[in-house]
Amino acid sequence: MSDLYCVFGNPVGHSKSPAIHSAFARQTGQDMRYEAKLAPLDGFAEAVHAFIQAGGRGGNVTVPFKEEACRLSTRLTPRAELAGAVNTLCFDGDEILGDNTDGAGLTRDLMVNLDCTLKGRRILLLGAGGAARGVLAPLLDAQPDALVVANRTSGKAHALAARFAAHGPVVGCAYPDLAGQSFDLVINATSASLSGELPPLHTGIFATGSLAYDMMYGKDDTPFMAFAAQHGAAQVADGLGMLIEQAAEAFFVWRGIRPDGAPVMAQLRGA
Ligand code: ATR
Repeated sequence: MSDLYCVFGNPVGHSKSPAIHSAFARQTGQDMRYEAKLAPLDGFAEAVHAFIQAGGRGGNVTVPFKEEACRLSTRLTPRAELAGAVNTLCFDGDEILGDNTDGAGLTRDLMVNLDCTLKGRRILLLGAGGAARGVLAPLLDAQPDALVVANRTSGKAHALAARFAAHGPVVGCAYPDLAGQSFDLVINATSASLSGELPPLHTGIFATGSLAYDMMYGKDDTPFMAFAAQHGAAQVADGLGMLIEQAAEAFFVWRGIRPDGAPVMAQLRGA
């Protein structure tokens, strides 16, 4: 019987993870099956245990269960512990190992797929929720000159910067504090794009040659991407590459083989 994996979410019908992991399995010749599991909002733990009983070997976790998955794990990898969230589970006997591949997925998409240098650069991270927290440590590991976290509720940005201060030069601020500053890389980790909104940025925020990156993706450009293209960003990208690369990293955690994200990216863009 094929090894069984799934993604837990609610909603989960829109998830691209089954298509991505099925493509990875074909590419690497791994005998595995991957499906989407709709977990009830108050029944995540039960859904995980039922899947383990059915022979599940591992899973991905998406909205809104990443923090609950952290609590359910019997052991956490250091990067999941730092993120305070889990997007990848490995089941082995009684152990539920929680990992987080989101940050690695983002930095790989930035540095490998988009050929963006992070070392010595000025990075602006918009938002201070779970999505921002999950990528702070890997961004700081890449040794930027400065990493500024801006958030509507500035206290959350200050708290996040304080939490990661030991990892590198990170400061928190409110949007008005960005006046007069520009950045080589601006990453939108807010949920503003979900409601068709744009964080309150000034028009000079994008330095010459800069990359604007939205962690969200959709059929059309997000308001942040459109704003960036209009106001001087040299390159604009959505989060589809991050989605594929976090999946490739999860696949590596489970199977010990790293699939190539590029053909899957081409396939999904085509679709
Ligand atoms: P996630 O886990 O996806 O990061 P979250 O924890 O709800 O979600 O955080 C959402 C983030 O998007 C927060 O930083 C939020 O700002 P506040 O902390 O001030 O609420 C930010 N956000 C959402 N809508 C926004 C908007 N229209 N403009 C600016 N920031 C926005």
